[in-house]
Parts: sequence; structure tokens; C-alpha cells
Amino acid sequence: MEIIKVFSPATIGNIGPGFDVLGLAIKGLGDVVEARKISSGIVVKANGSKWNVPLNSRENTASIAAQHVLDILGEKGGIEITLTKGLPIGSGLGSSAASAAAGAFAANYLYGNRLSKEELILPATKAEAVVSGGFFADNTAPALLGGATLTRSCEPLDVTRIGSIDALKLVIVIPDLVVLTKDARAILPKFVNLHNFVMNMANTALITAAFSKNDYGLFSRCLNDAIIEPVRSTLIRGYHTVRDKALEAGADGMAISGSGPTLFAITNSMEKAKAIQKAMVQGFKENDVHAESHITEVDREGTRLLPK
Ligand code: HSE
Repeated sequence: MEIIKVFSPATIGNIGPGFDVLGLAIKGLGDVVEARKISSGIVVKANGSKWNVPLNSRENTASIAAQHVLDILGEKGGIEITLTKGLPIGSGLGSSAASAAAGAFAANYLYGNRLSKEELILPATKAEAVVSGGFFADNTAPALLGGATLTRSCEPLDVTRIGSIDALKLVIVIPDLVVLTKDARAILPKFVNLHNFVMNMANTALITAAFSKNDYGLFSRCLNDAIIEPVRSTLIRGYHTVRDKALEAGADGMAISGSGPTLFAITNSMEKAKAIQKAMVQGFKENDVHAESHITEVDREGTRLLPK
């Protein structure tokens, strides 16, 4: 019986001002799904995870996505999924989306590989919606496709891969705090100030241009969210200290990754990235928060098979 191994990367979604529309896959962090066909049903197992991975197939995004794919394919068979979580749950790094993307990819691959990665975005996004409290593809789309993506519409789903930036170094700092996406969405304003809306729209448009032109200089000017970040920053102890320290250390911008609490800063210099990393971790430490950190770059490939 064929067993496959699938990797799906962590994602930043939203990228700064692009709330629910701009997402980015990042290298080095992600979830792994090992999967095999079984005669019927979906079975989920967890491989040595320190996080509480739901083993009920109706609550785990990998199995929910796999079931959606089997339904689309009209397959009556089942699948056994063994999930190795590389991403902390509730971190803002697209943990549920990575599992969903890997589950969707695995089911499709085992049952004839008839759907494109683009066609897997919808089942993966539906699966993520079960746990996130909202229907958005800014994590599932980059997790599947790699690079940066833009979601024009969720209903019907319309997602475009917009490219990557070779020079971009991302400093990812994951504090030891948990912020659930549904809580971070519940506090958002229902109405926004027109001036802030115009600023966010301009910055979002420019980020799209920057990724499609592979232009770090453009990106470095527009990582600024005037609407969502000021509200969500209140959920992250030490946010202001860490932001100030990142910018003092030479970052060209800093933002909350997804709904937080992970923060990411940008630069195009490895030397600066190391200084920024140290400064951001120190900023959390001064607020009595332990933080893990990584320096990474864009994952251009997205969800893929790993060698067995
Ligand atoms: N776009 C979503 C949000 C992603 O910011 O709420 C959550 O990871």
C-alpha cells in the first residue's frame, strides 16, 4: 500500500495591510502529513506533537480537507492521515491552513491527482473555516501555491499567485502566547475610517506590485496597517517594545503575522536580520515573554511531496 509524505509551509496571512487578501508562504517551517488509502472513512493520527492535535476527523483540518477532496472526486474510499505538526496552533503562522493544504494535497494525490493545486484551495479553505471562524484563503492559497497570493473574492473563490521577492529576509518571532484567530477577529471594528481605508488600500496595492515585480524596495515602503494592527496589537504583550526595537535595529517594517501573536520584520540584509532577531526577542523578554525566532525567506514551491 502506497504511503506518501506531504509538506505544507507556514504562511503569513495577512501581509500587513492586506487583511484577508494578501498571503505569503515562508520557508523552513510547516506541517507534514503521511497518508495512505484505506477502504473507507478518514482516520487521523498525530505523530509526537506537543500541541493538542484534534484526532476527531471532523475537527482536524487535514482530515476535513481530505474528505472534501474525496467528495469532489466522487471517491468512496478512505484515507489514513498521520499528522506531524511543525507549527504551533494559534500562532498566526497558518497552522490550521498548513494541515488543511497538506490533507487536501494528500487525498488528491492518492486518488489519481486529478485536481490542480488551484482547485485544492477551496476544499482546504472550507476545512480551515471550520476552526477559524471565517472563510478566507490568505493562508491556504500561499500554503498550496507558494510565494505571495492575493484573494480577490471568496465567493466565488478567485485567487492569484502574485510572485515572490528574492532579496526579502523575514525575521519571524513567535512569542509564547496564544491568540486564537476567532478571538482576534471578534474584536475587529465593523466600520473603518476613510483615511485609514485609503492608506491600507494603497499599501496593499503596492505590496502586490512589489511581489509581482520582485522589488524589495517597493515592499519596504508599504508594510503598514492602519486599521487591523492597532486593534490586534492589544492582544500581544510587548508588541510596542518589540516593534520599536525591530525598527531601531534596522528593519524596514514589522507587522503581525496573520491574527498573531507571531510578529515578522523585513530586511534585505542577513547582517541586519540577525540584529533585528536579537532585538525583537529581547523586546519580548523585557515584557516577560519567551519567544522563539527564525530568519527565513519566501517559500516559492508551496505544498509538495517529500521523499519517502
Ligand atoms: N486573515 C486572517 C486574519 C488570517 O487575519 O484573521 C488568520 O490567520
